[in-house]
Amino acid sequence: MIPMPSRHGYPCVALEWYDLTSMRGLPLHEKLAGLVRIGIALYSVRELDELLEMIVEEAMDICGADGGTLYLVRDSMLEFHITRNRSLEKEIGRERMLDFFERLVIPISTSSMAGTCALTGKAMNIPDLYSLPSDFPFRHNPELDRRTGYKSVSQLTVPMHGRTGGCVGVLQILNSLDAEGKPVPFAPDDEMLLSAFAAQAGVSIQNAQLDEKLRRSHQETLFRLSGAAEYRDKETSNHIRRMSHYSRIIATGIGLSRLEVASIHHAAPMHDVGKIGIPDRILHKPGPLTAEERTIMESHCLIGARILEGSDVPVVHQASVLALTHHEKWDGTGYPQRLSGRRIPLEGRIAAVADVFDALASRRCYKEAWPEDKVLEYLIEQKGKHFDPDLVDCFLQNIEEVRRVQAQHLDTDDDFQKIESLSSHLSDEAVDRAA
Ligand code: C2E
Ligand code: SIN
Ligand code: SIN
Ligand code: FE
Ligand code: FE
Repeated sequence: MIPMPSRHGYPCVALEWYDLTSMRGLPLHEKLAGLVRIGIALYSVRELDELLEMIVEEAMDICGADGGTLYLVRDSMLEFHITRNRSLEKEIGRERMLDFFERLVIPISTSSMAGTCALTGKAMNIPDLYSLPSDFPFRHNPELDRRTGYKSVSQLTVPMHGRTGGCVGVLQILNSLDAEGKPVPFAPDDEMLLSAFAAQAGVSIQNAQLDEKLRRSHQETLFRLSGAAEYRDKETSNHIRRMSHYSRIIATGIGLSRLEVASIHHAAPMHDVGKIGIPDRILHKPGPLTAEERTIMESHCLIGARILEGSDVPVVHQASVLALTHHEKWDGTGYPQRLSGRRIPLEGRIAAVADVFDALASRRCYKEAWPEDKVLEYLIEQKGKHFDPDLVDCFLQNIEEVRRVQAQHLDTDDDFQKIESLSSHLSDEAVDRAA
């Protein structure tokens, strides 16, 4: 019987459910059964950093190790990613423990244990690092032990392979502890268990890496498409950057989940894509708009929503909601649907605060930048009129972070000139072509 009755039947999504420290004394077949469950749980973790942490933690628990390190293959090098050492963490805390480890990059060669393991694809079980066989091409570096006062003894190093067989990284665990907490060599069973675990871990890492790559290329595509509208708008790319960071800050401040925050952050740059459909003479008008021009201008919300609607990509769907609702006002006097209060989708209410703050605090083709105190006064004055009051409060509470974003994405005169010359260049070309 598998000794995890209370967890039986749950979908395997969170590893906390498995008290794997207890695997140490179990018979092999039960350890194997546990391992299969861990493997299934690993497949469900898509966030790379989170996954790597879990892998090291589980590797240590499976074999009763005191420490662990994970390296990933990158550009034919091994890059140090995660390190754990429970004794040192207990003694000096995790932060200070990490100070001893620089984020190093080592070659895939026989100049190190991890490098050799990646090169040969074979597990290496070292009973005592201080008495390595004399024909080994490398020695244990005692420097770290000397500095930390920790004594490294036994070490088990295994490669992690991806679906197609290539090495994606190396997993290394340190000091197998016996019942009294004394370091002893890793057993042959540990070698077998860790190798089996590493096989699952490797595929999970590869999946997470592919996911991340895909996510990044999606994001880049979307960000560049938002830029198309932005060029026409004579706003610098800094506007959509700042605005999406402010949206992220508010979303975080009101306690949305990490995924929700990320989604809003990435959808926000698209809020004004509909301006692509607004004629230049209105979009670039230096002064105030006439009523008729204003009506045309306001159609950018519907145009944007139309461009983005119907997508089954969640971020794009959210962007379409944002495009449609970012000019609605809390008191129901906004456009295009005159929604009010919580009828306005949350992302639209967040974007309203972020967008107007940035519009006021920056220079536009039709207005100068306002000083910050005036902008904040305006936000406060518009609480419950234009804006969701809670979101204004949240924004003000996080004003320090807002200022940091502003400082990182300042508009310069160069930005304005670049965009102006680009658009005049484009229109010259259009004139030439027409002639
Ligand atoms: P935007 O420049 O990104 O401005 C976004 C929103 O910030 C505006 O939405 C408005 O709520 C707020 N805002 C911007 N400047 C001011 C200001 O000087 N005073 C106050 N009280 N609020 C301001 P709104 O009004 O719906 O405008 C949407 C878009 O229409 C603007 O985007 C801009 O592209 C254009 N627009 C608005 N007013 C004018 C204008 O007078 N001249 C021109 N050429 N374009 C305008
Ligand atoms: C970006 O770089 O794509 C925008 C957001 C940022 O500056 O972090
Ligand atoms: C990012 O910060 O993740 C890049 C793109 C963005 O700001 O939308
Ligand atoms: Fe807008
Ligand atoms: Fe905007």
